[in-house]
Amino acid sequence: MSLLEGLEHSLIAGEPYHTEQHFSVLNPATGEQLAYVSEVDEQGTALALRAATETFNTLKTTSAKQRSEVLWRWYELMMENKPLLARLLTQEQGKPLKEAMGEVDYAAGYIQWYAEQAKRSYGEVIPANDTQHQLSAIKQGVGVVLGITPWNFPLAMITRKVAPAYAAGCSFILKPSEQTPLSALALAQLALQAGMQKGAFQVLLTSDSAGLIKPLCQNTNIRKLTFTGSTQIGRILLEQCASTIKRTSMELGGNAPFIIFKSANLDDAVAGLMAAKFRNAGQTCVAANRILLQQGVEAELLPRLIKAVDKLVVGDGLEEGVDIGPLITLEAKDKAQKLIDDAIEKGAEVIYQGKQQSGLFMAPVILTGVTSKMKIANQEIFAPVVSIMSFSDESEAIELANSVEEGLAAYFYSQEVSQIHRVSLSLDYGMIGINEGMVSNPVAPFGGIKQSGMGKEGGHQGLDEYLTVKYLCQKFD
Ligand code: SIN
Repeated sequence: MSLLEGLEHSLIAGEPYHTEQHFSVLNPATGEQLAYVSEVDEQGTALALRAATETFNTLKTTSAKQRSEVLWRWYELMMENKPLLARLLTQEQGKPLKEAMGEVDYAAGYIQWYAEQAKRSYGEVIPANDTQHQLSAIKQGVGVVLGITPWNFPLAMITRKVAPAYAAGCSFILKPSEQTPLSALALAQLALQAGMQKGAFQVLLTSDSAGLIKPLCQNTNIRKLTFTGSTQIGRILLEQCASTIKRTSMELGGNAPFIIFKSANLDDAVAGLMAAKFRNAGQTCVAANRILLQQGVEAELLPRLIKAVDKLVVGDGLEEGVDIGPLITLEAKDKAQKLIDDAIEKGAEVIYQGKQQSGLFMAPVILTGVTSKMKIANQEIFAPVVSIMSFSDESEAIELANSVEEGLAAYFYSQEVSQIHRVSLSLDYGMIGINEGMVSNPVAPFGGIKQSGMGKEGGHQGLDEYLTVKYLCQKFD
């Protein structure tokens, strides 16, 4: 069977699970229906829970080396199927094919990294206070994991959860976004081909997220929830998980400042900003949301920025040369337009507006004179809109940058060594790009602080999220 055949049903205990209720998956660039997928029902969910619980118990008897080998094979299969996966991703999510190819590499990178890390979940021997005891701490998989993933990175947001979970010896039930379930199913099929146990990675499809998720959050068999999505939904999920005291990892919304100091190399700053702002049409939680420009650099920087933005091509991601695909929904486009309108009403100026676009496509916009009172400075824009604020000195930049509730990613450009040191320490963010607009990397800990969530994905820290420490106290004669 080809990788793309049969991507219509939830994958439960290794088999497609058929039901009568369906929902459509649309191509955001063309509006065409890509698939009509079946909604999982209560019986299917119960079946998945049973399979995940049984599989978790069998995974306890596998070695780290065995799990590592399965992950390596999964990684290789992803790379062998890269063109197919990338095309499917562009069709259901909209991002340009070149970005989709990049996401396949990025997503597979997490599998490769955790194939290596699987063998390194070391415990420790603890020096005892007497000679009759041996004390140690071992690490074991936390149990059955529920994962909820978004539409903006339909592959990478899944592999960076499932790969460390499997490396740790956990089984995983995934609820992917209803907008992009096909990439999730393709990944799960490849995992099966790679030799993953049938209940180790199951995919439940539904357009009624709340209806499926609430009972799962309250189910005692699920020991951990890992979520990537908005802060608002994260709060609800945390409440739902409270009754069963679940472990949680929350990768929530951002509102990234992108600070350009006078001392910056301005060409580098523009290049970094283009990457941090326009990747995935601005639909990333680490997107540069508030550009903080030091007074005095506007005249040199803005013409270079306008020149770079003016080169961006908006269109169907499958077409050659496209840089910005469609937004995911009409609501997303309307929301971005409302943020622009509010900013203009409160005094911001549009210094660049690309050619107006129809459908879900949105042309880039550059706004200056944005202030903290405007909605655009306080919400994730998730669209190709550059929103520029100004500051006079370093302390004002830090204050503005830290003035929001989110603390995911921040960026700054400076060539002064002491300033780099001071600003790195002062920014209240989980990730900082220093003269760099792209921080994401499977080998490094991705995650935020404050209301951007808790827990890390990637790096050696990402494995700990799925491990529990068990203390062994042995008495001997
Ligand atoms: C996200 O937008 O949630 C993730 C972006 C990334 O991994 O770079």
